[in-house]
Amino acid sequence: MSVQPSIGKPISRLEGHLKVTGAAKYAGEYPAENLVYGYIVNSTITKGQIKHIDTTPAKALEGVIEVFTHENRPSLAWFDFQYSDMDAPPGNAFKPLADAKILYNGQPIALVVAETFELARYAATLVKFEYEEEAFDTNLIDNLNKARSPKVGLATFLKPLPTKPVGNYRKAYEQSYAKASGEFLHGTEHHNPLELFATTTIYEGEGKLKIYDKTQGTVNCQLYVSNVFGLKYKNVQVISPYVGGAFGSGLRPQFQLFFSVMAALELKRPVRVTLDRHQMFTFGHRPPTLQHTHFGADATGKIQALHHAAYAETSRFEDYTEVVVNWSNMIYPSANTLMEYKLVPMDVFTPLDMRAPGGSTGSHAIESTMDELAYALNMDPLELRLINYSETDESTGRPFSSKELRQCYLQGAEKFGWSERSPQPRSMKRGNKLVGYGMATGIWESMQLPARAEARLTKEGKLHVLSAVTDIGTGTLTVMTQIAADELGLPIEDVSFSYGDSKMPFAPIQGGSFTVSTVGSAIKAAGSALRKKIFQKAQSIKGATWKKLKPEDVLFHGGAVSLKTDPHDSISFREIIEANKGKVIKTTNLSVPKALKLKKYTRAAHSAAFVEVEVDEELGIINVTRALTTVAAGRIINPKTARSQILGGMIWGISKALREETITDHELGKYMNQNLAEYHIPVHADLHELDVIFVEETDEIVNELGTKGVGEIGLVAIPPAIANAVYHATGKRINQFPIHFDSLI
Ligand code: MOS
Repeated sequence: MSVQPSIGKPISRLEGHLKVTGAAKYAGEYPAENLVYGYIVNSTITKGQIKHIDTTPAKALEGVIEVFTHENRPSLAWFDFQYSDMDAPPGNAFKPLADAKILYNGQPIALVVAETFELARYAATLVKFEYEEEAFDTNLIDNLNKARSPKVGLATFLKPLPTKPVGNYRKAYEQSYAKASGEFLHGTEHHNPLELFATTTIYEGEGKLKIYDKTQGTVNCQLYVSNVFGLKYKNVQVISPYVGGAFGSGLRPQFQLFFSVMAALELKRPVRVTLDRHQMFTFGHRPPTLQHTHFGADATGKIQALHHAAYAETSRFEDYTEVVVNWSNMIYPSANTLMEYKLVPMDVFTPLDMRAPGGSTGSHAIESTMDELAYALNMDPLELRLINYSETDESTGRPFSSKELRQCYLQGAEKFGWSERSPQPRSMKRGNKLVGYGMATGIWESMQLPARAEARLTKEGKLHVLSAVTDIGTGTLTVMTQIAADELGLPIEDVSFSYGDSKMPFAPIQGGSFTVSTVGSAIKAAGSALRKKIFQKAQSIKGATWKKLKPEDVLFHGGAVSLKTDPHDSISFREIIEANKGKVIKTTNLSVPKALKLKKYTRAAHSAAFVEVEVDEELGIINVTRALTTVAAGRIINPKTARSQILGGMIWGISKALREETITDHELGKYMNQNLAEYHIPVHADLHELDVIFVEETDEIVNELGTKGVGEIGLVAIPPAIANAVYHATGKRINQFPIHFDSLI
């Protein structure tokens, strides 16, 4: 039997059928006997104290079981650090129902538990709160004078602060032949995955819980629950195989988890807490930012001065940071640089990573300033990128582990037809519409974290691998199965992957585009260890003839081990299991990134985006008629799921540039469009030709798989490419996202 490798094949999602037929169960769908429903009550003021609570009318309703507030909250963990988690920024994590204090608008202040969801929701309207209000501030732009440097903490390890200034940027900028600068404003955005946050907690007695949760990290939530509720770590099981999108909103334990667990422990019965769509706007968000840039170049286009500064919102209790400004100098070398990143604490919930956090924000400022610089030089924007192409990361002086960005530019320009662009703004037309072409560069760091995996040769001679990792809709199940299959030379049908359960071997949160590199490496290591064990068994069964063989003398292929020199001298996995008295053979293996070696390199995926827009100036309508992203992300395990990741990122890019916006009423300190009718995202009618090219890239440094991750890079370059195309079409440089139609009329 000849088995083709699975890696590199465009295999459809293995769980696709379960999902489209509704057979896949999500956190809020698990049945349980005696199940009751919790509904959260949110604060209607932005800052102050709860003075009085009246729960009597709510409790008087038949079927209402309990109303939890800070007044009757059970005694829980005291210390702030016990509420922390793997993605917690420096500061003190939010503690639900800790006291009478109101820290932000929409804060959860009570949980009503009832026999049905509808009853709990109705009863929630009857709980009355009297507040003492205090002055608050939610307006970033009015408070730039309060900007300060972020606190440094554990999270800073994955999100480095800006590099130190080099040379004298101010002088270099003033003396530059060509200059470009800009002020860029981004508003608040909310994640809005299709699946609402939900937790079903099954109380199993004696401090034991089985928790179905919507999360990007089963182990992260297990840690949080055992710390906060003082339960034995091994008595808390968090299960989350299917996740209906998260985009970062599930990186930290969300408060419905807290409420569901608290009520289940108090009532000693299963409790489900599901958020409403409007409540999806009451925790983390992409923070609003204001950015400034000053780029200067000599007459040949070589950049001499780079200044990039960002002011970002955070909460009063945690310092959420993301990498916004570091990228410019990673892409473009300059002898004189100044990178600045400051936070402004406001009366809001702590911001939260949202797909390509910081990257999709910073790239707009960088790439639109580059576009402006190209016009100042009277040069093609792509030519300017090529003149400033950097083979090493000048911001740190380290080489790239690999970088095929040049191929992204060249193959993208070719396929898109960039050479047909006429340079002058407003020079291209189609009927009564202006046509514009824009391009931009994208970069996203390729990270890897430690993880563990288990590999088992089953009684049937098949392979079963396990990891606690989730699959947030990215194709993790499929890709991990492919990696495992190739490790043992099996067809994908003979491999199964169990995941999304904290009882399984450790995996970190799923995010940062690091899951394939992190968990994939662990599975590869576990598979390789299993191969060794199987080989030893085979040797002992085969006796004398195989005794002197080394692992490299045999092949694992089609469910058998055979001699490389004589394929007929072989032993099947089934025979091995039989000789093992029918017992499973298993190994677990920890995969740890080779930190010392990796530190010597900058590891990043790159991309180039090319966009065509049509602008109707009479109506102010912008249509992205064509978009292409070329991506260099190392080895692509599954071209189909990877392409879907990039397409999803591109659609979000269109959304970010043209649609998405959470509107805050700063008089009230409140988000005003907490629903999908008024929080705009692109629909099918907004989407036209989208295309993706993966350029060849071999990386022997990043990890053993050579993968860089594709979850986020697709979102980075599209928004600035759209802004640049709008400028090319209209001659109007609009640096505020989303671009509103009235700014074009
Ligand atoms: Mo991603 S924002 O790390 O889920």
